[in-house]
Amino acid sequence: MDPVRNPYSPGAGTRPHALVGREAELEAFDIAVQRLAIGKSSKSMLLTGLRGVGKTVLLNEFGLIAADRGWIHEALEANDEINFPRAMATLARKSALRISAGKRTGARFTKILGVIKSFQITWKIPDGGSIDVEPFAGISDSGVLDADLGELLVELGELARERDRGVLFTLDEMQYLSKEQLAALVQAFHTVAQRQVPVMLTGAGLPTLHGLIGAARSYAERLFDFPDIDSLSPQAAAAALDQPAQDEDVKWDAAAIDRAVEVTGGYPYFLQEFGKQAWDVAPGPEIITRQDIDDAIPIAVAELDSGFFRVRIDRTSDSERLYLRAMAQQGRGPYTSGSVATALDKTTRQLGPVRDGLIKRGLCYSPRWGEIDFTVPMFDEFVRRAMPEA
Ligand SMILES: Nc1ncnc2c1ncn2[C@@H]1O[C@H](COP(=O)(O)OP(=O)(O)OP(=O)(O)O)[C@@H](O)[C@H]1O
Ligand SMILES: [Mg+2]
Repeated sequence: MDPVRNPYSPGAGTRPHALVGREAELEAFDIAVQRLAIGKSSKSMLLTGLRGVGKTVLLNEFGLIAADRGWIHEALEANDEINFPRAMATLARKSALRISAGKRTGARFTKILGVIKSFQITWKIPDGGSIDVEPFAGISDSGVLDADLGELLVELGELARERDRGVLFTLDEMQYLSKEQLAALVQAFHTVAQRQVPVMLTGAGLPTLHGLIGAARSYAERLFDFPDIDSLSPQAAAAALDQPAQDEDVKWDAAAIDRAVEVTGGYPYFLQEFGKQAWDVAPGPEIITRQDIDDAIPIAVAELDSGFFRVRIDRTSDSERLYLRAMAQQGRGPYTSGSVATALDKTTRQLGPVRDGLIKRGLCYSPRWGEIDFTVPMFDEFVRRAMPEA
């Protein structure tokens, strides 16, 4: 059918035509924003889940909800080289300027600029000469990140409250932050919560994030919920395929939908990819049949193999690949580190660095002590296709 009208959208953070199955998270977020806006306490959310389940899409959606309520939304994506103090200072500065667009005067506005300045000096962040104020002595200048960040965010919150606004930070790929950075972030938002200013953090990361944050600050559970973002239920998965087509006056055969839901396991990225290919191969004009999805499966798999899956192993070393293969050869995970070591004729201690490397680069995670699994759904099948027995 006409590829121009194809309504499916495989991609990183690409808003799906039909965002289904996330009603609970969206509602919980909307309630949390409204509570914070009237000075009531509220837990925020840190979304955890595998690759391609829709975490980034949800964060973006949170940003739109907050904007609808008159809040400022600033987004940040972490990576393993991030200069965290600098990134936070930039977010604070941008937010302060946006909150006060139209009225860049007043004591609070001057104060936040001074506080940002003192934070920048303390953390050796070049400000590009854009903030022409004296540093505010005594706030955000202790050299202890937890405290300096907390004070910075509280000042920002005071400005937001004065202007009847709020600020939402969305922080994606949070598993890349170090333990110290996560600890500082949690502590800072703990301070923000105590002062009840309208500044909110929601974030997302791989399943490891929950454990990382818990280890960084034990009271994180009191500040954040950790909803597990997972594959869609069969009903929601069917809707994710059906609704976009319906809006283009195209129908899916029930058998075609069933088959697509089965092969994708209800994973959002795969639903978009298989939906897209089924649409393109279907002669149409108004229906996608079981035959069409069967024809589309090899095309969609090839597409995933050369893109979504392939990029994950592009920068891996030989020993990492051997490790991945030893995992995948055991079928679906999770796997025990011991069984992988046995398969490779090594000890778990010898393989420790390889295992840690795979976790650090976000390809694997440890669901429990002594266990390991892929962070990418159905990755075991890909590894068996891409790296058959030597
Ligand atoms: N609820 C949903 N219903 C249908 N499609 C969805 C849904 N959520 C996300 N998608 C689609 O799934 C794909 C992946 O979404 P997204 O990039 O947000 O995932 P992610 O969890 O952030 O992945 P990663 O961990 O790789 O960053 C996108 O193509 C998006 O359009
Ligand atoms: Mg993402």
